[in-house]
Amino acid sequence: MVCHLGARRKLVAPCSIVIFGASGDLTTRKLVPALYHLRKENQMPPEFRIVGFARREKTDSSWREELRQALDQFSRTKPVDEAVWQEFSSHLTYCQGDLTDPAAYAKLERQLSAFGSLPLRQNLLFYLATTPSQFAPAIEQLHHAGLIGGPAATGWQRIVVEKPFGHDLASALRLNDELTRYAQEPQVFRIDHYLGKETVQNILMFRFANSIFERLWNRDSIDHVQITVGESQGVGQRGGYYEEAGALRDMVQNHLLQVLSLVTMEPPVSLDAEAIRDEKVKLLKSIRPLGEAEAARQVVRGQYFAGTIGGELRPGYRQEPKVKPDSNVETYAALKLFIDNWRWSGVPFYLRTGKCLPSSVSEVRIQFRPTPYVLFAAQCGQRLDANSLTLRLQPNEGISLRFNGKVPGPSVAVRPVRMNFTYDAEFGAYTPEAYERLLLESMAGDATLFIRRDEVEIAWQIVDAIRHGWAGKPLANREFYAAGTWGPVAADDLLAQAGHAWHEPLIPPHQPPSVRPPG
Ligand code: BG6
Repeated sequence: MVCHLGARRKLVAPCSIVIFGASGDLTTRKLVPALYHLRKENQMPPEFRIVGFARREKTDSSWREELRQALDQFSRTKPVDEAVWQEFSSHLTYCQGDLTDPAAYAKLERQLSAFGSLPLRQNLLFYLATTPSQFAPAIEQLHHAGLIGGPAATGWQRIVVEKPFGHDLASALRLNDELTRYAQEPQVFRIDHYLGKETVQNILMFRFANSIFERLWNRDSIDHVQITVGESQGVGQRGGYYEEAGALRDMVQNHLLQVLSLVTMEPPVSLDAEAIRDEKVKLLKSIRPLGEAEAARQVVRGQYFAGTIGGELRPGYRQEPKVKPDSNVETYAALKLFIDNWRWSGVPFYLRTGKCLPSSVSEVRIQFRPTPYVLFAAQCGQRLDANSLTLRLQPNEGISLRFNGKVPGPSVAVRPVRMNFTYDAEFGAYTPEAYERLLLESMAGDATLFIRRDEVEIAWQIVDAIRHGWAGKPLANREFYAAGTWGPVAADDLLAQAGHAWHEPLIPPHQPPSVRPPG
């Protein structure tokens, strides 16, 4: 039986989507292709408009033409369906203006009113595909132009923003204050695109819709957990951004801590956005704080130097464009965290992420406790493998269980075998882009897959404490790693302290670096 949790297809009321920063990469590479696919799959509301707002001079038709060309490159389905595009593009209009200029917002208001339908003027999704420093002025201007109303306003108005949500806790607090000066927190949809990934969403289904695993999901059965989010790409053209960010801010503060909280949170009282987000916050709050001494023992950073990946020579981080030749910015981070609650007391959680690793692969590995060795001691000594469960987030999305089996034959030989589930084999190759789901949810007003203010702030507390310990300390030799290896030796030492070792993910065939928007 297929059971549609949360019921039915999302009901989305007619609305207008206004994209600020419409000339940017995110719009052409991700947002418009995602909206095109939502239209193609009949998921857009019956009536909708998409308004691109940016400074450059363009007409509706030149903007459409530009987007059409980009779609050939960035659409996940090819070739582009001309009939769908023609219909879809008739909903696209362009509004030229400066984000700080009140007259531009008056023009936007006229444009929205000219659509001639009340819902298209009142139900407004503002997607701020801009730098964070532009969020506050844009929201203020929207407010003054009467485009964002408070709770008493007619229709709905929502603001979608992307990370970085600040640079540290202090700046995140400021940013959150700015975001909510003229809008209420429930109107703010903060994107972490990992939450739009099918496999990340499946973590909760997997845990709470199956009795067999949830019963083992605690300190009694689980020895430790490893979360790996590896990338074979280097920083490429994003050196300028990355010099200000580093792996801890770029990946751990958001994606890794989000995955960790889904893997470890308690069951929510319902599938409502607030119920789920309350549990995630509770979990983040129970991560044992890292003082300077703990951070030095439990967190490792790393930086890649030149090496080869898939036979291709890659430059070191310090040789990448816009990177300081003596930069100490980390391109790799590994952490050992403890969750001080009843379920997880004493279980280490190892998180690692890095650029220029041997492959782009993300997975969660649950390592179960071993059985007593006595029975097979003669055959296997202490080497009998403990069971493990791997949730493969990307690529080759799936779940695999590793357990011990008897090798056929007269001897009592035991060896690990695998049981594999792959999404492709079970459901076919349906892989919607994270942005499709996230845009749909934001239009539908469901905030489950978006980050609430308190989640952002607690995550910064964790990251700030670690960064504080690193301040002013140059990288040591053991913290460098060659491009194409799984990180610095110091990261192996981190696990070795407890007799653990990193599990090397199965390497999928080498993938070309994926193209991502800068920033
Ligand atoms: C982004 C980071 O948030 O996530 C990038 O800024 C990183 O540095 C990217 O490459 C990884 O996302 P994905 O979906 O390719 O795993």
